[in-house]
Amino acid sequence: MSGTVRIVVDDELISGRDGQTIAGVLIGSGRIAWRTAQHGERGVFCGIGVCHDCLVTVNGVEGVRACQRRAVEGDRIEREVRS
Ligand code: FES
Repeated sequence: MSGTVRIVVDDELISGRDGQTIAGVLIGSGRIAWRTAQHGERGVFCGIGVCHDCLVTVNGVEGVRACQRRAVEGDRIEREVRS
């Protein structure tokens, strides 16, 4: 479907608008947090690539900032658990 991007998050297929960041697609699907850190669940904090609160694993690559990475059709996103 043109204008739509579909990604897999923890084995669930979700979709967003083409051009959105991974964080944008996650938030659009109702998720506000997707990483477990020492001080609780984290999601977007700064939204500009500085805080690293939004880290996810994308296609097996750990530590990707969801707020900076454009979602690509078929991306596989996994939550991260870090202390
Ligand atoms: S929300 Fe701060 S780096 Fe992504």
